[in-house]
Amino acid sequence: MPPLLSNFIDALGQPAMRHAMVGHFPIVLSLVGFPIAVWAAIASRNGKAVRLTALVLYGLLAVSSYATSYAGDLAHDAIRGSLDQQTHELLEEHEELGEKVWKFAAGVGVLMVISLARHRTVRMSSSWLAAAGGLFVAGWIVNTADHGGRLVYGHGAGTPQLAPAVVQPASRTQDMDPRVQFFGERIRPILVNNCLRCHNPQRARRAGRLDQTTIAGLLTGGISGPAIIPGRPGESLLMTAVRHEDPDLQMPSGGDKLPEADIAALEKWITDGAVWEAFEYVPPVRAQEPE
Ligand code: HEC
Repeated sequence: MPPLLSNFIDALGQPAMRHAMVGHFPIVLSLVGFPIAVWAAIASRNGKAVRLTALVLYGLLAVSSYATSYAGDLAHDAIRGSLDQQTHELLEEHEELGEKVWKFAAGVGVLMVISLARHRTVRMSSSWLAAAGGLFVAGWIVNTADHGGRLVYGHGAGTPQLAPAVVQPASRTQDMDPRVQFFGERIRPILVNNCLRCHNPQRARRAGRLDQTTIAGLLTGGISGPAIIPGRPGESLLMTAVRHEDPDLQMPSGGDKLPEADIAALEKWITDGAVWEAFEYVPPVRAQEPE
């Protein structure tokens, strides 16, 4: 099979790639649709064929945007576990942008239907409104697509080749201490996804003065003393907090209790000496206030 074809077939098997491919239909349709919508408005008296063409294009645009959103949901499900907090939040923003596209396109389609009316004023005003709507939709789509592009190329979302590089900076897993590997694969994601948005240097002051972005922070601990004692999970405050053993200290604060598997992983990590590998924590853009 020619490589181009086999690459294409490969890509069809990957939800994120499928989403990106389907997503090019609305991009092209919106860019082609806008000039035709303007033409339909200018040719308003005799332009029935043009108006029908524009109507069909915006119908297709609504359908293909809906399909893109749907393919995007599937892609999100496929990569959900592998995202860091910041990428996760950007992805949600992307979804919010994307979900609106088909509704806007359908709105322009409705205006196009109205523009088929006989009444001149109705026809004129609705076809110019539709043209303006077409410009708005094209702008919205280009912005959404650009946002998606940055997620892929800037953050590695949905790229199997890049994702491991983003999630774990080391490609030397083979000769790595298994405890370092365990930290990178199991522990760091738990901390990043559930704890660090409050327990980071900028916010620690309001979170028991406990900074969990470095091992030094955990060992020094917060107002109640060390958060972990390597080798002794039973005496580590962090374990008390995630197990909800103390009614006054239940972490993550304001969130659900961690899954048992994560709690067990934290316990194993502390038992094995709390081996750490330095990493850079980037606080999420829209950080929530600690409760
Ligand atoms: C929404 C913000 C928030 C999140 C998320 C969060 N914490 Fe906390 N944490 C706090 C606040 C605030 C305190 C101060 C004590 C209190 O008011 O309960 C605290 C205190 C603690 C303490 C006690 C510090 C001390 O010395 O008194 C530990 C241990 C702790 N958190 C562990 C965790 C762990 C582990 C996670 C993730 C599983 C987590 N926290 C997630 C806000 C948060």
